[in-house]
Amino acid sequence: MIIRSAQFCISSPNYRKCPQDGRPEYAFIGRSNVGKSSLINMLTGVKGLAKTSGRPGKTQLINHFLINNEWYLVDLPGYGYARTSRTSREQWDKMMRDYFLCREQLTNTYVLIDSRIPPQRIDLEFIAFLGSNGVPLTIVFTKTDKEKQREVMGNIKLMKQALSEQWSELPPMILTSSLTGYGRDALLEQIETINRQVNNQTT
Ligand code: GTP
Ligand code: MG
Repeated sequence: MIIRSAQFCISSPNYRKCPQDGRPEYAFIGRSNVGKSSLINMLTGVKGLAKTSGRPGKTQLINHFLINNEWYLVDLPGYGYARTSRTSREQWDKMMRDYFLCREQLTNTYVLIDSRIPPQRIDLEFIAFLGSNGVPLTIVFTKTDKEKQREVMGNIKLMKQALSEQWSELPPMILTSSLTGYGRDALLEQIETINRQVNNQTT
């Protein structure tokens, strides 16, 4: 897919304040610092479109980016940031629970997983939450440029094993690097395919 335009639209504190134009949207979620905002910049080819940081907890709201005037990429605040207070963790829980359970335009969710480390409980729990609520998802392994390929493949194998305990069929998985652009075509191709299915359903 060719990205002809990518623009920031709005930051929202909850799903009710998000755009109401019915365009399909694709959300990016995962642990703080896993590379959600960086991946959005890599996919769109617009550096600095989504704000990134070396410190976890940068993205705090629901951020909509309009792509090709047709669909949205949604950058979300990450989970698992150890230094957040209990109140802000509770706020995050409510904001994200409501978003994932109530946002009708949500078409596919990309759960980002750090390819450098073995499966983390918090990621498995989040994937289980989406799965048990019937939210369609794709797993995206990030930062594949940082470790030896053998390490990365080992961690992916462990993730598949862990997920097999919850799922009879594994979700699609895509390997990426925001540094090198690896995985960009695969991810955009998947979005294009899903967009086509959505359009066929509505016309
Ligand atoms: P929060 O908004 O805090 O939840 O974090 P985030 O998931 O949006 O992470 P962000 O995109 O801000 O990236 C965090 C750090 O990881 C930054 O220093 C990025 O430069 C770095 N990073 C992200 N993706 C990659 C990647 O694919 N490769 C490498 N080498 N670094 C990456
Ligand atoms: Mg971010």
